Amino acid sequence: VLAACGGKEEGSDAKSADEYTADKPLIIKFSHVTAIDSVKGKAADKFAELVKEKTEGKVKVEVYPSSQLYGDNDELDALVSGNVHMIAPSVTKMVKIDPRWQYVDMPFLFENDEHVQAFFNSDVAKDLMNSDQLSANDIKGLAFWPNGFKHFSNNKNPLVTVEDFKGLKFRAQAGQVLEAQFKTLGAGSATIAFGETYAALQQGTVDGAENPYNNFDTMKFYEVQKYLSTSAHGRLDYGIFVNKTFWDSIPADLLTQVEEALTEATTFAQELAADENAKSLENVKASGVVEVYEMSQEERDALKEALQPVYEEFSETITPELIEGIEALK
Ligand code: LMR
Repeated sequence: VLAACGGKEEGSDAKSADEYTADKPLIIKFSHVTAIDSVKGKAADKFAELVKEKTEGKVKVEVYPSSQLYGDNDELDALVSGNVHMIAPSVTKMVKIDPRWQYVDMPFLFENDEHVQAFFNSDVAKDLMNSDQLSANDIKGLAFWPNGFKHFSNNKNPLVTVEDFKGLKFRAQAGQVLEAQFKTLGAGSATIAFGETYAALQQGTVDGAENPYNNFDTMKFYEVQKYLSTSAHGRLDYGIFVNKTFWDSIPADLLTQVEEALTEATTFAQELAADENAKSLENVKASGVVEVYEMSQEERDALKEALQPVYEEFSETITPELIEGIEALK
């Protein structure tokens, strides 16, 4: 087990709940990379509020949004070492630990939000959350939070057909599946931390990106992108991961209340995500600075067809069990 800061003091046994008070609370540090008013930002703050209420202030969740404590390049290491207790990354960023998390990037795998929710509730999702790969890194997976479908944007030309992607360079979150996705479309890609993406688009390091409407809106990417197509070609969803040594050190009665708060915050996120994304699309359109192209089903089908080679390349890595398990939930 890796060294963890945890909530334990060196050499002492686990504390009992009554040692924590509103003046001297147990602190849970929760770091994430999106804006305060994003889907994830609002759900994280809701969780903190619920924990405060349920534990009468004996547990305090300190939320650090906008990559201000840790960003994409270091939040996972910080969780493993226990320097932060809780993170909520886009699941593809768990590729460093287990390549199966890239299921989320398989093009057009999910049909709609209901399909995604059915997956979150499924045994295949539970297997992924309870994997040995996570526990070997002293990580415990607790929940899934949705964001939404990703859509392509760029600065050079409207994206309608596969040909339109040729020669463009896109920002990617992480992993080989996204790299292969862009390559299959004749485009290049670069892995760039979320917190550095605005600057990369502004400076032309990359021409384009792929985001749910809500991230596109709350990060103001519309200021540095000219064209957005409603491709809905992939998903962006979150896993709630905690440092296991720390989590197991939380006194049992407080832990019950914290876990209740997480269940409620998860429901809150599930109820919020679709609406916030719909509102964000309206905001983006209202900004008047991005040309939004509404893709037809035929145009999306053509992209789907073009992206089939990604399945040939990655089905073994993601595992047929997981991919077929997700497809069976349609
Ligand atoms: C991204 O890097 O685009 C997303 O993972 C950011 C996020 O957390 O929604």
